[in-house]
Amino acid sequence: DWKMDSFVRRTICELREKIGNGRALCALSGGVDSSVAAVLLSKAIGSQLTCVFVDHGLLRKDEGDQVEAVFGPNGPYDVHFVRVNAKDRFYQKLAGVTDPEQKRKIIGEEFIRVFEEEAKKIGAVDYLVQGTIYPDVIESGLGKSAVIKSHHNVGGLPDYVDFKEIVEPLRLLFKDEVRTAGRELGIPDYLVNRQPFPGPGLGIRIIGEVTEEKVRIVQEADAIYREEVAKAGVEGLGQYFAALTNMRSVGVMGDGRTYDYAIALRAVMTSDFMTAESAQLPWEVLQKTTSRIVNEVRGVNRVLYDCTGKPPATIEFE
Ligand code: XMP
Repeated sequence: DWKMDSFVRRTICELREKIGNGRALCALSGGVDSSVAAVLLSKAIGSQLTCVFVDHGLLRKDEGDQVEAVFGPNGPYDVHFVRVNAKDRFYQKLAGVTDPEQKRKIIGEEFIRVFEEEAKKIGAVDYLVQGTIYPDVIESGLGKSAVIKSHHNVGGLPDYVDFKEIVEPLRLLFKDEVRTAGRELGIPDYLVNRQPFPGPGLGIRIIGEVTEEKVRIVQEADAIYREEVAKAGVEGLGQYFAALTNMRSVGVMGDGRTYDYAIALRAVMTSDFMTAESAQLPWEVLQKTTSRIVNEVRGVNRVLYDCTGKPPATIEFE
């Protein structure tokens, strides 16, 4: 793709010229946008860039290690990488909290606090890097009338960090262009093709109180589900994941009674994430996933499929 090739080269040159020997700081989530932004910066200014990756303990299975493999000291890029393992802090703050909006606020605020602490250790920087893309720019200008969910994103940090200017190298690109740029930059496919993942992470895919045990259950179930969908080569899904309902129900195993959680599987087709349809997954995929989840994930004895569209449901559960 020659157009993207020239975007990448031009942007690296421009960033290099603009930043010179200044220092930049990037909040890395491991998502597509912040990853591509970070790699562009690393190509432009190398280790003058520090990437801070806050692992809130609400990521998908093995995700933290995957991000570290790419951006950490053993990865291909020349950046300063700081991984903050903050899961205990997040779990403590979330203990006993069941209200969805309160959970979102706690996770968002704690995220900023952790990031701010790390930024203080790094000291003043010249540039704060953000993975803002064109749809974010448009959306923030629209001014929504009713807050359905308070979004948490790795954007929105500026007030808390000592810096001179924001750089947003992707602000004119659409998502598919960001992915193309990412491929152009040699970022591994599993990062470039990642589905959207909310800032509050698994915290909003666990209905009710978040505990370490529930995180383990939803991580394992979700990993199995993603593996089976990928194996079957199902295409055209906008987003799909497992969530942990807050329901326990009676089951039977051997000749004993169980009283365990129900996992909900969700898969949607959507063009803009504002509305969505539940996807008609092949029955064999659902069956295989179900039987693996109930056999392999301790604490689950039932698997349900969410057939609801958006509206009236939302894509995430909280
Ligand atoms: P809902 O659940 O509102 O989700 O139908 C629409 C899309 O937004 C994602 N989402 C978020 N993304 N921070 C994010 O960065 C958030 O707090 C957040 N909440 C929902 C969701 O995954 C879906 O793609």
